[in-house]
Amino acid sequence: MIEGRPYYLRLVSSPEELAREAGAEFVRLAADTLEGKQNFSVALAGGSTPQRMYRLLAEDERYRDSVAWDRAEFFWGDERHVPPDHPDSNYRMAFDTLLRHIRVSPAQVHRIEAENPDASMAAKAYEDLLVRHFRLSPGEWPQLDLALLGLGGDGHTASLFPGTDVLEDRQHLVAAPWVEKFHSFRLTLTANVFNRARHVIFLVSGKDKATALKAVLQGKDQPQLFPAQLIRPASGALWLCDRDAASLLVEPYFQGQ
Ligand code: 6PG
Repeated sequence: MIEGRPYYLRLVSSPEELAREAGAEFVRLAADTLEGKQNFSVALAGGSTPQRMYRLLAEDERYRDSVAWDRAEFFWGDERHVPPDHPDSNYRMAFDTLLRHIRVSPAQVHRIEAENPDASMAAKAYEDLLVRHFRLSPGEWPQLDLALLGLGGDGHTASLFPGTDVLEDRQHLVAAPWVEKFHSFRLTLTANVFNRARHVIFLVSGKDKATALKAVLQGKDQPQLFPAQLIRPASGALWLCDRDAASLLVEPYFQGQ
């Protein structure tokens, strides 16, 4: 159970409805944010689950034409340690499903330069980018308007994997943990950055996530094993889950938001 901070669970019937619900939240949060600010900053999630949502935002005019894309600033929650044109690149995935289909300038797209063979240098470079973009003084943290996140079957989120040293990192904005299961470095925003986002939305779909989702939301507080438990933003994360992913959850649980 995620002690201390509320989370909100919104169940949907299918991956298609998950994409629609997530797309509607994106449109709503962008509009709300832009009533009071010039720009809307979003950290995109990687992996496969968000792709349907990104395609919907790009291809369905009910969503696409409801966002002031020229005022959006795109970041990534994490990246694989590969060049931007690599099939595993989260940047490439977002570019192919969303960014190439909407009117945004390169200046609005802040990818992680994961082509750098030195992963820790790539992390430092992204941290420097965030410091410049958000005009941070030493000790200050960036505040994203929205962070989109997924959940791995092992309870990871972004590239915060079980048993990795990044889970305790309270100092950096960006880290480059070695992930043994992939025998590779990853690049990731740290939990502190996600927790300072104004809004956090998890997108979770499929039976293969049911055990992890139950452990994260309704199991003991053990973030070393289930790092998604580290993500406890003050506003309360919204967990958008389809019925397959939520099939092991027991009531009562928070509904709504
Ligand atoms: C990544 C993501 C990762 C992802 C989960 C779920 O780079 O892959 O950041 O955290 O969100 O692994 O992935 P799926 O959506 O593909 O199940």
